[in-house]
Amino acid sequence: MGNNVPGRKKWLILGAGGQLGREWSKQLERDGCDYLAPARDRLDITDSGQVRRILDEYRPDIVINAAAYTAVDRAEDERKRAEAINSDAPGQLAGICTEMDTQLIHYSTDYIFPGRLADRKQFPDGYPEMFPAEPVNWYGRTKWLGEEKVRAAGGTHLILRVSWLCGAYGNNFVKTMLRLAGEKDQLKVVNDQWGCPSFTAPTVFNTRALISRQAYGTFHLTSQGEITWYDFARAVLEIKQIGVDIEPVTTEEFPTRAGRPAWSKLDIRKLADIPGTRILPWREELGKLLSRLPA
Ligand SMILES: NC(=O)c1ccc[n+]([C@@H]2O[C@H](COP(=O)([O-])OP(=O)(O)OC[C@H]3O[C@@H](n4cnc5c(N)ncnc54)[C@H](OP(=O)(O)O)[C@@H]3O)[C@@H](O)[C@H]2O)c1
Repeated sequence: MGNNVPGRKKWLILGAGGQLGREWSKQLERDGCDYLAPARDRLDITDSGQVRRILDEYRPDIVINAAAYTAVDRAEDERKRAEAINSDAPGQLAGICTEMDTQLIHYSTDYIFPGRLADRKQFPDGYPEMFPAEPVNWYGRTKWLGEEKVRAAGGTHLILRVSWLCGAYGNNFVKTMLRLAGEKDQLKVVNDQWGCPSFTAPTVFNTRALISRQAYGTFHLTSQGEITWYDFARAVLEIKQIGVDIEPVTTEEFPTRAGRPAWSKLDIRKLADIPGTRILPWREELGKLLSRLPA
């Protein structure tokens, strides 16, 4: 976890076992940074006493909150739990960070937006950061409340909205498609929900670029482009040269417990304007991710 060198920034990673948390640890480790990445059994972010203690003891300069309740469908039935993790805990954490003058980096989601196809006509580049939130599911609602609490705490913070997040660690759409392609002769994937994936490695890279430029506030952070889940799945199979049939289906044919926005592309021009950031087309990032996964 790096050497504790005086004068160097210290990082605390929350949600260290998740796909983004693990990517953070990997990059900080590679760069020889001072960081602490407590496992969930050592730090439950809903326990504000534990959070305060660890901040008091470790005294990080920057806290990365990659912890979240991310089971979108289950959240409809576990409302209190999802709210405790995604709304209340970030609010308490932000309060503690403000008191201790510690920077807080908090991740949020495209699912805070309504995702109306009509909005796409007005905003062809995607939802701008300031577009009013109107989540269509409980997960999105809890994440929006979490954002609002982080802002209200009034400390130095970055809120980064990512979408369709995929990386080398943990579970995600890309890995699910690869697994299903090994099990089935035909896949059915929704072709009427549009968005753009974020990948964990560039998410960490661009977050660090924003921090080093002292760019604070709310930013959208995805790759470039606009696709459906079907396009995404097809690209996974094409790049990996897997000859499994894939059929486009509608959301109606594929009902889920929680509603999903039909179009949740995020406008990333604010991020692109910050020197040092790097935003690549989604397919290029997908290729890089696939080359990191075991064959
Ligand atoms: N995944 C996506 O498609 C997606 C899309 C848009 C935005 N986001 C946002 O991006 C961020 C990172 O997501 P991700 O995909 O990396 O999530 P993830 O893989 O589900 O990881 C979340 C981590 O948080 C941990 N966690 C949950 N409750 C906790 C608690 N009370 N205390 C401490 N840790 C706790 C989880 O531990 P357990 O595994 O033990 O529960 C897990 O390790 C989140 O803010 C998420 O809302 C994700």
